[in-house]
Amino acid sequence: MSKRFYVTTAIDYVNGQPHLGHAYEKVITDVIARSHRAMGEETFFLTGTDEHGQKVQQAALAAGKTPQEYCDELAAIWQALAGRLGLSNDDFIRTTDPRHEAIIQAILAKLEQNGDFYQAPYHGYYSAKEETFLTEKDRREDGTFDPMWGPVTELVEENYYFRMGRHQQWLIDHLEANPDFVAPSYRRNEVLGFLRNNTLEDLCITRPKERLSWGIPLPFAPDYITYVWFDALVNYASLPGLRGDPVVIEALGPWLPQDGAFAPNPDLQLWPADIHVIGKDILKFHAVYWPIMLKAMGLPLPRQVLAHGWWQKDDERMSKTTGNVVDPIAVIEEWGLDAFRYYVTRELDIGPDGNWTDAGFAARYHAELANGLGNLVNRSLSMLNRYRQGIVPPPHDELRADVTSAVATVEGLLRGHSLQAALIAIWRLIDRVNQYVDQTAPFKLAKDAAQAGRLDEVLYNLAESCRILAVLLWPFLPETAGKIFAQLGLADTPDRWELSQWGGLAAGHQANKPVPLFPRRDQPAA
Ligand code: MSP
Repeated sequence: MSKRFYVTTAIDYVNGQPHLGHAYEKVITDVIARSHRAMGEETFFLTGTDEHGQKVQQAALAAGKTPQEYCDELAAIWQALAGRLGLSNDDFIRTTDPRHEAIIQAILAKLEQNGDFYQAPYHGYYSAKEETFLTEKDRREDGTFDPMWGPVTELVEENYYFRMGRHQQWLIDHLEANPDFVAPSYRRNEVLGFLRNNTLEDLCITRPKERLSWGIPLPFAPDYITYVWFDALVNYASLPGLRGDPVVIEALGPWLPQDGAFAPNPDLQLWPADIHVIGKDILKFHAVYWPIMLKAMGLPLPRQVLAHGWWQKDDERMSKTTGNVVDPIAVIEEWGLDAFRYYVTRELDIGPDGNWTDAGFAARYHAELANGLGNLVNRSLSMLNRYRQGIVPPPHDELRADVTSAVATVEGLLRGHSLQAALIAIWRLIDRVNQYVDQTAPFKLAKDAAQAGRLDEVLYNLAESCRILAVLLWPFLPETAGKIFAQLGLADTPDRWELSQWGGLAAGHQANKPVPLFPRRDQPAA
């Protein structure tokens, strides 16, 4: 067994409300996972929830529940979201999984033994809302802290620190030698700029238990709880580890419980991760602290941290307080899952920030999904049914070159994870085939018995183009791709790239009747 392509999303704070931003990240990661699988790579896609920390402890207390009960209820909502988004994730990690906790403790024990930690008093200001310490630099001109931090309290407490100094130079060297380690390149430059111009401060990796009990105790100092970010980042390696990934088990072996629960499984080679998909706000954790943690743990670094931008709605930050939030489930209920998946991937390239508008969504739905793709499939299959009782005529190659070249372009773009550009290329092909209908005018050919052969040719080219479009669309719009195959009367699933070879539809194959894929919603129902 060889190593699988391993792709992850950030794990969401369990106590947050799932919104467009979370859903976007999960959808683009799903498209990446599906396209790698379609191209024949064994793939593993992980997502999950980040469940420890002060906010969860406080919210559980306020709700009169134990933190675990509270997390169990909320994790179910996030797992349901993954289902509603059509994610093809292979597992779902929860940081309250006792096996994750055992791995965190193994890592802490190993790092303590290696001399990576020391104890020292901490003086500072603490934002419980953002679970972070603030410094004098965070004060505004008038001496106060931004209300986004919530109440800020002054603290003096003993804590454990992770030594960072010895790691700064090799990390700079690694970023310089591996230009793709952080993508897009402007995010890499940000990280390099930060590392070159600042001395990394040691990372405080504990909270005293008396202040925060909802977390993983240090194995060598049980009065301390592991800092939630240290705990959360490890999810990417702990899930492979708890499923027996040999690389993770090898690195942590002596520190793991020796009860046989962590036996290596040579069939599941995941680590190192190929891509961590994350939002730009958590880049420093992933491109600075996480590589350093891995190096200290003796594990290879991930191949890439891919940072996407942030969504706004109507040019404003989404926030629960203003009610300015896009609820992905509500959009999916109104417009369908694939309409949502299409809009977010088509509207926003991975990197820059994006802006959601309801009008923009409706416009793309009608122009690109209903008129572009939906109309093409509908008229191709209607004419095949009307003029040939749904029976596919003999193969013909008129659109072969156009389709084959589009397939090659889309393949290259998918391999480079240029999802938006891949959709643009697919729609260029859709427009080309729609034009072909207008140019060849099969409805006119059908009126002239002498043109029966020409009509056969056109109908074949249309049906075969629709079939291949389904294969190209699969990573993005799996439901729709499946419907196109079903309407073509194909029992297969369009989930393998090799199905995009021209000529797959055989003469005499019986297609089904079309059903509109994206009904228009701007006219009263007929
Ligand atoms: N729990 C941490 C991540 C730990 S990963 C080891 C966290 N959680 S979060 O729920 O706040 O965010 C989860 C992901 O959603 C992050 O990658 C974040 O960037 C992304 N988004 C949250 N709001 C967003 C937008 N408005 N737009 C796009 N993505 C956004 O951070």
